[in-house]
Amino acid sequence: MILVIGSINMDVSFRVDELPQPGETVLATAMKKSPGGKGANQAVAASKLGGHVTMLGCLSDDEDSRSLLKSMKTAGVDISHIRIVEGRSAPTAFICVSARGENNIVVNPATNNLVTPEYIHEYEGLFEKATYCVLQMEIPYETVKEAIALCKKYGVKIVFNPSPIGGVSTELLYHVQLVVPNENEAAVLLGCKSYSEVTENALQKFVQAFDIGCMVITLGGKGCICVEPDRPIRRFPTIPREAVDTTGAGDTFLGALVTRLAENVSLEQAISFANTASGIEVMRKGAQNAMPTRKEVEDEYKKSLG
Ligand code: RIB
Repeated sequence: MILVIGSINMDVSFRVDELPQPGETVLATAMKKSPGGKGANQAVAASKLGGHVTMLGCLSDDEDSRSLLKSMKTAGVDISHIRIVEGRSAPTAFICVSARGENNIVVNPATNNLVTPEYIHEYEGLFEKATYCVLQMEIPYETVKEAIALCKKYGVKIVFNPSPIGGVSTELLYHVQLVVPNENEAAVLLGCKSYSEVTENALQKFVQAFDIGCMVITLGGKGCICVEPDRPIRRFPTIPREAVDTTGAGDTFLGALVTRLAENVSLEQAISFANTASGIEVMRKGAQNAMPTRKEVEDEYKKSLG
């Protein structure tokens, strides 16, 4: 079982020609509400691709919460342990998506902040059943820290997506099996201003210093690289796509990766599956609504082989 602990957001997406600059006001050409949240997205991606997924997160009893629960349930995620706190609003993410498919996001955490260490402990039994646990940073820091401790106690492999990177402290990274940042997040982890300053040598030293099993850095349309302590860095390019909306692309990649790893395939195979899955996702609008099924990924993969 793959245990996902994290955020569940209602995404309010605005289509704009260009992302607004500081101090600038721009007019949207369209607006849409759709299910998102890094935790829920990763859970839905994995479940649609065949993973056996249980989600821990927190919502309320409002209309948005009901529709977020429905999206996860329809994808096959076990939502029976999700905490419902009455009388609150569901978390919301305000997203601007440019004509090139790039985005920027502001999240109002609301009930995501009620994913507390105490709540996680109530479901300690799930850690005994899980093979992988997926974590991100849209829930309280102390909860992520506690979940990592429980994973270590029960021998659950951790897949950590350090996003949003602002709240991450490197103490969380020690002995984590798989860390999956994007290039900006990787740069921040290494104390660099931008990814162009990051050297291969520094990456290798970083994973060695924290005893990270593997760091997979996603590079958008360029695929990803894989940094491991004892071998040269490997590059996994992907097929370039016409991106319509990149919201949830990293979550799709991660969900696909963990699904295949939980099936005990090699890291190479899991990455190539994940590259294909996220490549499909960026060609559609939204996050969870854009995520592919297993069959779609397999068909697309066969097509790419010619
Ligand atoms: O990773 C994409 C997600 O980030 C969006 O769905 C939004 O909810 C934010 O959490």
